[in-house]
Amino acid sequence: MISAEKIPNNVNLSSNKRLQRALEHWQPKYIQWWRDMGPQGFQDYHQVYVRTAVSVDPSGWAHFEYVKLPEYRWGIFLADPIPDRRIGFGDFFGQPVWHEVPGEFRNQLRRLIVTQGDTEPASVEQQRWLGHRCPSLYDLRNLFQVNVEEGRHLWAMVYLLHSYFGRDGRDEAEELLDRQSGNRDKPRILEAFNEPIDNWLDFFMFTMFTDRDGKSQLMSLSESSLDPLSRTTRFMLTEEAHHMFVGETGVSRILQRTCELMREAGFSEDVRKVGGIDIPTIQKHLNQWFSLSLDLHGGEVSSNAASYFANGLKGRAKEDTFDEHVVKDACYRMEFFEDGRPATRDVLMRNAMNEVLRDWYVGDCAAGVERWNRILEHAGVSERLRLPDRKFNRHIGMYSGFHFDPNGVPMSKEQWEKRRNEWLPCAADSEYLLSIMAEPVYQPGRFANYIAPPRRGINQKPVDFEYVRTEQ
Ligand SMILES: [Fe+2]
Ligand SMILES: [Fe+2]
Repeated sequence: MISAEKIPNNVNLSSNKRLQRALEHWQPKYIQWWRDMGPQGFQDYHQVYVRTAVSVDPSGWAHFEYVKLPEYRWGIFLADPIPDRRIGFGDFFGQPVWHEVPGEFRNQLRRLIVTQGDTEPASVEQQRWLGHRCPSLYDLRNLFQVNVEEGRHLWAMVYLLHSYFGRDGRDEAEELLDRQSGNRDKPRILEAFNEPIDNWLDFFMFTMFTDRDGKSQLMSLSESSLDPLSRTTRFMLTEEAHHMFVGETGVSRILQRTCELMREAGFSEDVRKVGGIDIPTIQKHLNQWFSLSLDLHGGEVSSNAASYFANGLKGRAKEDTFDEHVVKDACYRMEFFEDGRPATRDVLMRNAMNEVLRDWYVGDCAAGVERWNRILEHAGVSERLRLPDRKFNRHIGMYSGFHFDPNGVPMSKEQWEKRRNEWLPCAADSEYLLSIMAEPVYQPGRFANYIAPPRRGINQKPVDFEYVRTEQ
């Protein structure tokens, strides 16, 4: 019997025998999955200074301590209920929210929860070898923090499946541990989660752009009429913020170091010759992860998205900032690509909900890129980073199957093949990155040559704190 105390929670687990039994069955499989597919080589002999959620109290939910990763206390937390919460959008606008799953929306809700749930373990799998190439103990700890929290996000979705979807939910919970990132026979559901992440530039870009897609999705699910889903995702968002912090500051520190190396070399030298990461390589990785993450928002015109909105399952990010929430006849002005030319047409807003969310996402990403550019400006470097056009390198939606340059100019397949390596990472780039990351940095306070130290440490600890220690 697993004790409820081992699973920090605010869902009254100790008095919910049915859920306890379900988790009792699932938890050992989860731990086995974590050992097999989680951080490789950092399971038994390392203690990591991580935060654990022990309550949802905003002033004190993060509890810091050293733990061995497989002993992390993955918990189940819902944000506090909002009294008399009402449905905020769609056909049932204004009615009381649901505390059980309505039969007619069961399949749709299950699909939404499973799709979200599948991304959580997937990213842990993608990142499982990174520890061996870490630029510092500070970064190693941040990687593991992100990993354990993605594990907890899986728990959050499994909690919903076990609690509200009966037998089907239990089966889905098992399958979430069965699929594997990049596995040919049983891949993860979404494509970006099957790409390997074997260097730290990819990791930082992933946490910047793909975790930000997570933020998009969680924001829209936190509007859901299904109250437990709303409360679960609202709490997940507080953790997601740290993941994006890791990504944004990781790239910031690389940029800062690149500028320093360029300055030291008198701006004339190729920065790779002094072991730095050149700005064009950074731009290519930005292009890659931004475009993959745009795909995660789904097709531009989508009847599924319309139905999720109409039924009150998935809203817009910050739904309450919109004037109108039923959105029956409103239109969205959308750019199409027809006969090799852009054309603008109105589509029903409900059918454009993926694009509405993507708009929010692009704006959020653009603000981050602006902050990166301030570092370049400050260092007197004239180059700038930028988001590619949203038609660039798309594999889902109406632009897939066509080719565009980063400015959104259409081009032939032959032209694209010729110039692809100018815009997206190629084998030589990843070879170079792996060469400067080959030696991990495990001494407290030391950092790899290609990245600047952070401005401050974690939880007010100094930067040279031993964030990961080896057990004697
Ligand atoms: Fe997550
Ligand atoms: Fe995340």
